[in-house]
Amino acid sequence: MVDAEKVVLVAGAGSSAPGWSIGKATSVLMARSGAKVIALDSNAEAAHATAREIEHIGGICLPLQGDITRPEEMDHVLKIATERFGPVSTLIANAGIGKTGGIQETSVADLQRIQQTNVESLLLLSKRLIPGMIERGAGCIVSVASVAGIRYVGYPHLAYSVTKAALIQMTKLIAHEYADRNIRANTVIPGLIDTPRIQKNVGAVFSSSNDMEEVRKKRDAQVPMKRMGTAWEVAHAIAFLASDQASYITGTELIVDGGLTGKY
Ligand SMILES: NC(=O)c1ccc[n+]([C@@H]2O[C@H](COP(=O)([O-])OP(=O)(O)OC[C@H]3O[C@@H](n4cnc5c(N)ncnc54)[C@H](O)[C@@H]3O)[C@@H](O)[C@H]2O)c1
Repeated sequence: MVDAEKVVLVAGAGSSAPGWSIGKATSVLMARSGAKVIALDSNAEAAHATAREIEHIGGICLPLQGDITRPEEMDHVLKIATERFGPVSTLIANAGIGKTGGIQETSVADLQRIQQTNVESLLLLSKRLIPGMIERGAGCIVSVASVAGIRYVGYPHLAYSVTKAALIQMTKLIAHEYADRNIRANTVIPGLIDTPRIQKNVGAVFSSSNDMEEVRKKRDAQVPMKRMGTAWEVAHAIAFLASDQASYITGTELIVDGGLTGKY
């Protein structure tokens, strides 16, 4: 759906463990639609694993290692990417981290670290990418937030929730600032998604022994559709917003949560 000739930078294109993450599935969908994909991840092997999936379907991908919180690394990544594929037309701001806990469990350093990845990286990348988008008269940004950024979902996840809320608002502000330059910016808001990261990130909240069967059962039960979503179900929403089919959609959010937020 993302139209050929596009150069798509997927930040957080890898997966934090074997299996399908949202960034990996999104990268494959973008490549399948003919876009050239820059699979950017702080974990080189994870970026390469995504590139292998894309090569497998005959798509075009440049895997690059880089930390989206580091300005010099992003300058380097964008230089290489532009030399290989030309200017970036589409940014998928997907990389995100978190730490469970509320006020007492969250240090100021935790909040700053999580904010750097979840929020400041969008500022950093937008500053670098938007001038080129203005010059070319088109551009697109899709951010990946979380239902935790708009609702309390049953357990304290303070730094994650606060930074995802900020990400939603920053994306909206980008949309408003650049709407008259044909640059669109939207956010996908996933609910409870069955990706490899949940064991490490939130497993202990759902099962004291981090038993994945128990974690899955409890997460499934919370959702009105009685199951978690898949990385692909989120990736399709991202691909739609990144495509020309969404050419009149900007400054909004698309919730992909099996009805979860309706409960709160
Ligand atoms: N899985 C869920 O239930 C869920 C729900 C709501 C929202 N989300 C959001 O969706 C996005 C993807 O989640 P996922 O479950 O597919 O995650 P994941 O952890 O499997 O993948 C994220 C990738 O981002 C990379 N990354 C992290 N920090 C980085 C940095 N500083 N620079 C470059 N790369 C970095 C990681 O190495 C990893 O490969 C995240 O923003 C997450 O917050 C996930």
